[in-house]
Order: sequence, then C-alpha cells, then structure tokens
Amino acid sequence: MMNSEQIKQQEDRYVANTYARYDVAIVSGSGVRAKDADGREYIDFTSGIGVNSLGFCDPGWVKAVSDQAATVQHISNLFYTEPCTKAARRLIELIGLNNMFFGNSGAEANEGAIKAARKYSHMKYGPHRSEIVTLEGSFHGRTMATITATGQDSFHKDYNPFLQGFSYAKMDDLDDLKSKITDNTCAVMVEFVQGEGGVNPLDPAYVDGVAAICAESDILLIADEVQSGIGRTGKFMAYEHYGVTPDIVTVAKGIGGGLPIGAIVFGGKTKDGFAPGDHGSTYGGNPVACAGADYVLSRMDEGFLANVHEVGDHMKERLLTIPGVADVTGIGLMIGIALTDMKAPDVVKSCLDRGLLVLTAKDKLRLLPPLVITKGEADEGIDIIADVLRRGK
Ligand SMILES: Cc1ncc(COP(=O)(O)O)c(C=O)c1O
Repeated sequence: MMNSEQIKQQEDRYVANTYARYDVAIVSGSGVRAKDADGREYIDFTSGIGVNSLGFCDPGWVKAVSDQAATVQHISNLFYTEPCTKAARRLIELIGLNNMFFGNSGAEANEGAIKAARKYSHMKYGPHRSEIVTLEGSFHGRTMATITATGQDSFHKDYNPFLQGFSYAKMDDLDDLKSKITDNTCAVMVEFVQGEGGVNPLDPAYVDGVAAICAESDILLIADEVQSGIGRTGKFMAYEHYGVTPDIVTVAKGIGGGLPIGAIVFGGKTKDGFAPGDHGSTYGGNPVACAGADYVLSRMDEGFLANVHEVGDHMKERLLTIPGVADVTGIGLMIGIALTDMKAPDVVKSCLDRGLLVLTAKDKLRLLPPLVITKGEADEGIDIIADVLRRGK
C-alpha cells in the first residue's frame, strides 16, 4: 500500500490540479473516525462535505450497496429497477411532494430544476418567461448553468459567455428581491441555509415574503437542499424550519450516504412537466446508488433527526463558550464558526495535525459531521478546536 507522500506525488502528476488539497490521504474509516495512509486517526467533522450522512462504512449501508452491486450494478433507464422505485418512493413519502428524477450530483439536480422551471413557465406563459433570481452568496454548482446561478462574482469569470436569464438578489432583502423580479421571472432559487456562502440561514420573515411573492405571481420557488437537506439540519429538509413548501426541491450529497446520486423533486406544478426525451442521464437512478439512498432514507426516522438536533445544539452551546469563537451560525449539524483572531485555513491545518477533519466556508470554520455522531464524539472534536484556538496555532 502507498503512504501519503507516494499517493500525493502520483496525484500531482496525473490528476488535474482543481482542488487545494490538504496533505492527507484517507484510506479507511468507520463511523466518525477516519485513518490516513500513514496510520494516523482523525475524527471527522466533514462527512465528505455533507455526504457520508451515516459516517464511514455503516454496516447496513455497506450491505445494501454491496448486495446490490452483486445483483445488478447497472441497467439503462429504458428498463425499470426495484432499487430506483424503492428509493424514489421513500424520498417522496418523506418529503411529501409529488414525484422525482434521479441524477448523479447536486449541480445536475439544479440544472434539471432550472430546466423544469423554465419549461413550466414557457408552456404556460410563453418563452419570454425564463428568468431566474438567485441570492448573492449562494452556491448552486459548477456546470455552466449552475455557476451562472451561483450568486458569487468570483465564479463568473474565465468561462464566458454565461447563461442568460439570471439575476441576483441580496439575501434577506425583500425590496431588493422585488426589484429583481420582472414579468419574465419564472423562478426564485434559494438555499434556506447557505452552505458554501458561510453557513447562513435565511431570515424567517424574509422567507415568508419570498414565498408570498412567488405564490402571487406563479413564480416557482426552488429549494436547493443539496447541502442542507436529508436530515442535515435536524429536519428532513431545511425549509421545514420555515413552514413553506417549495415547488421544486433539489437534493444530493447526503442522500447517497457516499455514492453519487442527486434528485429533483417536483411539486404539483411541475410533476408532469418533463415528457420522455426532455431530460435524462445514463447513470441516473443507478441501482447501487439507489440501494444506498434507500438505506440512508430508511434510517431517517424521528429518533435519527432528534439526534441531529440534540447534538447540533450541544455543539453550538459548547462552541460559543470557547475563547476565539466570535459567533456560531447554522442549524442542526450544519455549523459555521466565526473566529475572533485566527484565520479559518490555519485552524483547519492545526486541527488536521491534531487529528480532526474540519472545513471552511468563506472566512468561517464549517462543521458538517456525520449525522449519527454522538455527543461524546462531538466533544472529542470540539476539545481539539478549543485547544487550537487557545494556543493560537
Ligand atoms: C447548495 C449546493 N448546491 C449545489 C452544490 C453542487 O453539488 P455537486 O458538487 O454535487 O454538484 C453544492 C455543493 O457544494 C451545494 O452546496
């Protein structure tokens, strides 16, 4: 087996340089603990950026995906498969909307949501109605449509021309949103808790206003729940904290528990929007990914979500008492930490040296632990963060 340095050298030679990677190669994991190629152990507060919702190699999940891999690993979408229908049913029963489409990632789910919203409006009002308003600070993916939808200037360079028909409203500013909406607006797309933008939940009064504006003018409300959904905030979907029902919801990351899968979930207005040939994906609904998703979703009962809620509250309470922490944002196990003095990347580096994996989001530290983490495991990681902030390095 290669050690970390050997893995790094090969990677630098053969893999395109698109990620600012840390000097660690993870080779195995169990629950909330990971091991690197040099035998060092880490507590994981990242879950692969919100993906490994059940932690590393949950035995039930491993059995579900490996049994499926040994049965039928793939067949084209010209045929039905049981894992796809089972995962779809579970997702719809948990989310309470109408039907869904499986793809492979968050960006792809958002692409499909943009297509579905435009089709709905085009069919009803004509092709002029195609504009989509997103929020400043948002992140919706890295395909051409979804970087255009992403409300951060830093993404809008090098690849022009970008898509037409997008505008960006200030977060939590209803007047600004109203000023961006025109007769051509077909959808407003938001993250209820902005993830990459700094773990910022939307203000509830703002969300009420957005929902009312959308309902009044038949503008579709699209919830990008790619990072915040699938139990991450202690409810199945983050928008449930706000008491609104979006017209289209996108999910990915945590639904697969570690395999690439995403979904567009359609409410009543868009449930029959796509006809055969309008949308598709070779791998969408892949039986192995769906078996994993079905298993993850089978675990999302009240007790599971209560753990997210309780451990999340516990972590926030403790973090707020640590000198060097200016503020803690987020809901459930989607946590942002604003720091008084240290820079987030330096904290990440020192945490790695002490055996803790953590993330950043803008200038904050970001924690996305596996949803099954216990208070005791969370405390172990928080002790490391406290130690790093106390030493200032
Ligand atoms: C809110 C949100 N939407 C979309 C995406 C894109 O997802 P993916 O990387 O699976 O394409 C991300 C990824 O971080 C995200 O956080």
